[in-house]
Amino acid sequence: MDDSRLIIAVDFGTTYSGIAYCFANQRNSCPIPIDNWPGATGIDVPKTPTVICYDKQNPRNFVWGGSVEPQADSISDFKLLLDPSQKWPEYIPIINITKKLEELPKSPTEITADFIGAIYNHAIEEISKKFPRDYVQLCRKEYIFSVPAVWSDAAKYATLKAAQMAGLTPVQLIKEPEAAALWITKKLNVALNSGDIFVVCDAGGGTVDLVSYEVENTSPQLQVKEVVPGTGGMAGSLNLNKRFECAVKELVGEKQWSALHPSKGFQRAASQFEKEIKKGFHGGSDDDCFDDEFYVNFYPAKLADNPNCGLESNTWTMVEDDLMDIFNPVIGDILKLINEQVERVKVKMGGEGPKYIFLVGGFGSNRYLMKRIMNKYSNIEVLQPPDAWAAIAKGAALSRMSSEATVTSLSATRHYGIAVSSMYDEIEDQGRPFREAITGRIVTTKMLWYIHTGDNLLKSARIPFPVLRHFTQHEYETKDFWLFIPLFESQEETAPRYPSENEAFRVNCELMCSLSKMPKHLFKKHINKHKQTYYLVALNLIMTLEGALMTFSLEIDGVLYDCVEAKYSA
Ligand SMILES: Nc1ncnc2c1ncn2[C@@H]1O[C@H](COP(=O)(O)OP(=O)(O)OP(=O)(O)O)[C@@H](O)[C@H]1O
Ligand SMILES: [Mg+2]
Repeated sequence: MDDSRLIIAVDFGTTYSGIAYCFANQRNSCPIPIDNWPGATGIDVPKTPTVICYDKQNPRNFVWGGSVEPQADSISDFKLLLDPSQKWPEYIPIINITKKLEELPKSPTEITADFIGAIYNHAIEEISKKFPRDYVQLCRKEYIFSVPAVWSDAAKYATLKAAQMAGLTPVQLIKEPEAAALWITKKLNVALNSGDIFVVCDAGGGTVDLVSYEVENTSPQLQVKEVVPGTGGMAGSLNLNKRFECAVKELVGEKQWSALHPSKGFQRAASQFEKEIKKGFHGGSDDDCFDDEFYVNFYPAKLADNPNCGLESNTWTMVEDDLMDIFNPVIGDILKLINEQVERVKVKMGGEGPKYIFLVGGFGSNRYLMKRIMNKYSNIEVLQPPDAWAAIAKGAALSRMSSEATVTSLSATRHYGIAVSSMYDEIEDQGRPFREAITGRIVTTKMLWYIHTGDNLLKSARIPFPVLRHFTQHEYETKDFWLFIPLFESQEETAPRYPSENEAFRVNCELMCSLSKMPKHLFKKHINKHKQTYYLVALNLIMTLEGALMTFSLEIDGVLYDCVEAKYSA
């Protein structure tokens, strides 16, 4: 029964995480964010720092979020460790992820699970202050987690695992910009018409994610679809902090830096940059504003004065140019990412660009970023919804409500396929023949691509991947009879004909399926040249989109078997 369904949405962010919830029986549901977090200084803060600090003696004990002391030996940014395949921008000092991993008391997935479990328990306590505790306990709970659109499927899956490890099931995933889109379209005061295109740019702490949507229908409910493959990168606000660190290092020189870096004075300065300076910077030179000038205090450090660079009495006077140096490369990257989306939309729509750009996420609320985007696109309306920071958790909760706006289809961000043995063609496949042991045929290994980048994937669709497989007599007779199919992905522009060896081509996941219980008559008996028996089975892997992740089942002779497990490795 819908009546007692409690939907809990978790926005597990690189720097801040939030939770919003709603009861499925509410009419005109409006998700409620958890806005009381331990250690939070402001009132009504919808997110808590994604930080955890383990007890060295007993890693089962930990403190988290705003309760972690600034100087504690804490772990932050661990969300990024879930997807080591993402590339960092060039202007960021190399982040040694392997070293970081070695230093951790647990795996990134386990740390994520601990953190998620902690914020979830806190959320339940908070919900129980507003609604009867017994009722909250009794409610059937459904969880929805937002994940960056640019993430690898392996990283999305790792988030799912972490949620399950924390005891949160059933759980679904939604792409962060998609969640934002659902909230914005509900809340923003713009009248969207059929055919309108808008870009959602979620600029957070770690990632900047972009997805473009076209309005298909406005009534009875808003329906939108992705127009082109989503894009993004690691251009989040954390980069500003890293660049601030580099700027301070340059200001004080290598020698003073080694003492300053671990000191309280620097930690305070870094926190001042994070909390006030970068948020207050609006790019200066507005008619109604004085030039930006910010004072960074390194007290109690004892730094040598460097008046030419604005460092006197342990205080650095940061002028507009200093901040521009920090912001510009990062903003430049975001502008490039936005431009890529805008251009893709234009190509797809025969020259017509998006009507709106919606900016969400913490960094998305930055005035300088907004200004730069507006300057670049005079014919696109750029909007920052007022509650942009909490938009993702609220939108994720809305996505589970049947009465709300829906995203009907996604645009594939890569090619998906499998490697198959195919009859050798002397001209086309020159130099690639081999004899297939089981059948004795001369074959070559080719790629069979089922989904191409840009394909429109209907959320409700079941997409068949037809596969032919041979099995030896021995395999066929063993009790534990398995089918293993590596699913490949390619981010090359053109899907390659053969398995390739570049970075853009790799195993997406290993699909595993036990065939032991399948009726034996489905396997057709054959005899090869050497009078050996082998068996052939024609099957369909059926792909369905489960939120932001693909799931598979197996179909043989029209019968569906729910026995496929996808194994991801980072
Ligand atoms: N006005 C601002 N200008 C620049 N950065 C800001 C501003 N306001 C907040 N931020 C930064 O935004 C980040 C928080 O935003 P958000 O909560 O959207 O990110 P996240 O969810 O933690 O990261 P991600 O979505 O990349 O995993 C923090 O790094 C914060 O410093
Ligand atoms: Mg985020």
